[in-house]
Amino acid sequence: MAERRFDRDEIIVSKTDPTGRIIYANEVFLRVAGYREREVIGRPHNIIRHPDMPHGVFRLLWQTIRRGRECFAYVLNRAANGDHYWVLAHITPTFGTDGTIISFHSNRRCPRPQAVAKIAALYAELRAAEAGREGPEAAETGYHTLVDRLHRAGVSYDEFVFAL
Ligand SMILES: Cc1cc2nc3c(=O)[nH]c(=O)nc-3n(C[C@H](O)[C@H](O)[C@H](O)COP(=O)(O)O)c2cc1C
Repeated sequence: MAERRFDRDEIIVSKTDPTGRIIYANEVFLRVAGYREREVIGRPHNIIRHPDMPHGVFRLLWQTIRRGRECFAYVLNRAANGDHYWVLAHITPTFGTDGTIISFHSNRRCPRPQAVAKIAALYAELRAAEAGREGPEAAETGYHTLVDRLHRAGVSYDEFVFAL
């Protein structure tokens, strides 16, 4: 399956409800992922999840944004026809007037190939740690492997992302 790339000046945008169901996707999202708008609205965001993505990364991502913080992450996604594409995502929560989270918003740019090579090596390590485990147990193991790795390097995931 082929790798898809998108232009440096393009941004893939989507918004979700607090549970991760897609409520908005821009043209670039639909083109790169290969879906029509009606096929994604209301669906969980994991419809574009690539099986090579470690569960632990999503555990960290959700933990960060549920706490009301922004998160930067490299994510490998899968298009409708099975092609894959890397993104550097910036995900932010939106708060209602009562202070609760009412939606999440993700802006994604096309990452530099050198950064992708480095993050792909880390993700392969996390997948190996998760191998043979299912669902929450895999996420827990991958998450702890990632956190240990970052702890030893003395950086947060965001700092790690920007050092690539
Ligand atoms: C705003 C927002 C954007 C997201 N974007 C993606 C994405 O591009 N690709 C992806 O695989 N998961 C994305 N996720 C995470 C998914 O909700 C989901 O946690 C992930 O695909 C893993 O699926 P699973 O939780 O069923 O294992 C996003 C979540 C939010 C809140």
